[in-house]
Amino acid sequence: MPELDIQSLYEIACDARKQSHSPYSKFAVGAALETTCGKIYQGCNVENSAYGLCICAEQVAITKAVSEGHRGFKRIMVVASPFASPCGGCRQVMGEFFQDETMIYAFSADDVSVNQAWTMAELLPERFRFPDTN
Ligand code: THU
Repeated sequence: MPELDIQSLYEIACDARKQSHSPYSKFAVGAALETTCGKIYQGCNVENSAYGLCICAEQVAITKAVSEGHRGFKRIMVVASPFASPCGGCRQVMGEFFQDETMIYAFSADDVSVNQAWTMAELLPERFRFPDTN
């Protein structure tokens, strides 16, 4: 399967962002996660009137993929406006499944000049992993 270009992954994340349920923060986030086998899972943030139950877009995409049996991931694209770097909780959830070299892209929905990309190891160095599961 030919690799999806980054612009297409960005557009898939933008489409996911349209589904965001964010009436409290009004901060819509979309994610597009690519598995090593080339499948794409979309995610958006899903908020709740009990604020502590809000779920981030990245975690929705990862949970959807994992619940369908995927464990290997190539990259994830996260889109917000203004630009947002993935939160600490999302970094740890990514770190559960991503390799050190898995790419994380955080793109702005309206300003390409602030787009950023990191490897997993850059985004969360020395992440916690349960002993013997490395
Ligand atoms: N949010 C995400 O979806 N991903 C992140 O990495 C940071 C924050 C969401 C959670 C909440 O719905 C809104 O953005 C404001 O924090």
